[in-house]
Amino acid sequence: MELERIELVFDGPVARVWLNRPEVRNAFDGLMVTELRKSLFDLRSVDAVRVIVLGGRGPAFCAGADLAWMKATAAFSRDENLAEAQAMADLFFTVYESPKPVVARVHGAALGGGAGLVAACDVPVAALGTQFGFTEVRLGIVPAVIAPYVIAKIGESAARELFLTGERFEAVRAAEIGLIRAAVPPDDLDVAVEGRVKELLQAGPRAIAEAKALIREVAWTRVEDVQRYTVERIADLRVSAEGQEGMRAFLEKRKPSWGS
Ligand code: COA
Repeated sequence: MELERIELVFDGPVARVWLNRPEVRNAFDGLMVTELRKSLFDLRSVDAVRVIVLGGRGPAFCAGADLAWMKATAAFSRDENLAEAQAMADLFFTVYESPKPVVARVHGAALGGGAGLVAACDVPVAALGTQFGFTEVRLGIVPAVIAPYVIAKIGESAARELFLTGERFEAVRAAEIGLIRAAVPPDDLDVAVEGRVKELLQAGPRAIAEAKALIREVAWTRVEDVQRYTVERIADLRVSAEGQEGMRAFLEKRKPSWGS
């Protein structure tokens, strides 16, 4: 697929996915949603890629949904309107359930759906000074399809304040409420991102995918409902090739086969 709205750069075990519509601060329209979702989906089966870094070209990470595109949905039938919203929901889910870890490199602004993308990623790192906000209510809409990912990260208390005011807030606050993992000086952003990538490359690729599935399964479930699943996961993985290699490497005081 020829990519118009994003850029995909392969860099050894890292796939760098750039939102590439800087003239509108990487606001996403239907085409960007399609391209981003398909690219992330296709990366699932590229064994050489072990970490994905999502960033934005130009002055901002992502200004959220393209408001001209959202406005145009008034001319759509109900079914077309639902299909576009579903495509957007599918994009966030694809980021969230990617078996490869997704690091977000966030700068400038991450607003509305842009902040939702940050929430759907595993390890978001942002430059100090980045503007965040769930500005939807100020536009007469709501942060709907991103809500599950955002509320999972920031909790109901912060969501009640930030979804209802629509106010903008800075990276330090975003880190305090758990929307991002770290806020660093802008000049240190790439070093901080590469530091996270390096840590992720120390982990077994299958173990990472399993750990992500584990979090998804456990986060929303009562302990007693999930216990069988957790017992089966550890029973399966400690006898797997990767588990055996990881434990053997530790005991033999060497790096595992996937370690760098
Ligand atoms: N949808 C469509 N166009 C957008 C957009 C969006 N979400 N966000 C920005 N743009 C456009 C602007 O209209 C402007 O277009 P123009 O050059 O034709 O005037 C261009 O992108 C640059 O925006 P500008 O505001 O001049 O850039 P900035 O660097 O000063 O500020 C933002 C960047 C992201 C802070 C600011 O554009 C903004 O607050 N955007 C609104 C974001 C928002 O509320 N998103 C929620 C969507 S649900």
